[in-house]
Amino acid sequence: MSGPSTGSGSGRAGSGNGRAGIGNVATGSGSVAVHVADLHRVFSSAGRSLSSSKGTVVALEGVDLDVAPGEFVSLIGPSGCGKSTLLRLIADLDEPTSGTLEVFGKSARQARLDQDYGIAFQQAGLLPWRTVSGNIELPLKLHRVAPAKRRARVAELIELIGLGDFAGSYPDQLSGGMQQRVAIARALAESPRLLLMDEPFGALDEMTRERMQNELVRIAAETQAAVVFVTHSIPEAVFLSDRVVVMSPRPGRITAVVEVGIDTTGPRDDALREDDRFFHAVAQVREALHGSPVASPRGVEAR
Ligand SMILES: Nc1ncnc2c1ncn2[C@@H]1O[C@H](COP(=O)(O)OP(=O)(O)OP(=O)(O)O)[C@@H](O)[C@H]1O
Ligand SMILES: [Mg+2]
Repeated sequence: MSGPSTGSGSGRAGSGNGRAGIGNVATGSGSVAVHVADLHRVFSSAGRSLSSSKGTVVALEGVDLDVAPGEFVSLIGPSGCGKSTLLRLIADLDEPTSGTLEVFGKSARQARLDQDYGIAFQQAGLLPWRTVSGNIELPLKLHRVAPAKRRARVAELIELIGLGDFAGSYPDQLSGGMQQRVAIARALAESPRLLLMDEPFGALDEMTRERMQNELVRIAAETQAAVVFVTHSIPEAVFLSDRVVVMSPRPGRITAVVEVGIDTTGPRDDALREDDRFFHAVAQVREALHGSPVASPRGVEAR
């Protein structure tokens, strides 16, 4: 299945045809997919001995970020800088200490209730008593998608993640990487207009990882989903993203935003991984991570 994506449809400004007619690939209410302004998250360390003198951990401090509908944004930064915390706040799995947070113009809670996003986090989080098909099918079933449509969509997603021979297997019969692929398929089941992904490819071998990156680019373009993607890999961030957001060590702040801008001239596929523009952008993000100022946010454009 699924070689690298090809053709003009794989750019982020792709055709926008939804997949399988399921879910709400909507143009959406809010003009911004995610709006974050002056966001703070301070954890109390009561009962724990932490290095912080005041007994609190400032995980996020004054974070401002807007993600446009259909935009692919990666968060990158050292361990403990608050990437997962930011994603959890957007997903309404945690609450900010202060600041503004909106998802498609609504509160994070309302967006969660409206199923505006799919999530794939570090842990696959599959239900052990359901098969691969059963796990992927679950969100569709919960939202009363008709059985025939459900079956078609599940078959399509299983093909996408390359687990055609494992549709009837249970999670404990799969490797960690295979489980994570199932979790990604489940997140994609309803073609959400926002995907929140926290190192979803971290457990995959390099070949599978690159294949999943190619597929994610294609899927995001086809569904016009906005994606907020956490990764430790600079090349992964550059390959996938319209913008790479660089965060500082605790207290987590945004220190640089690198506009990758590569996709404006062609599709993202394996050829891009050996393209000069790709290496330029990787260098740009690396510099930003190591503290050198990024002179121009558009500095990675090909000359
Ligand atoms: N529930 C919590 N209670 C207390 N402190 C927390 C909690 N969740 C996160 N933290 C702290 O907030 C900081 C940011 O954590 P977070 O998990 O967001 O980092 P991260 O950037 O995702 O790191 P990694 O790259 O290792 O996954 C860390 O210092 C962490 O200890
Ligand atoms: Mg994390």
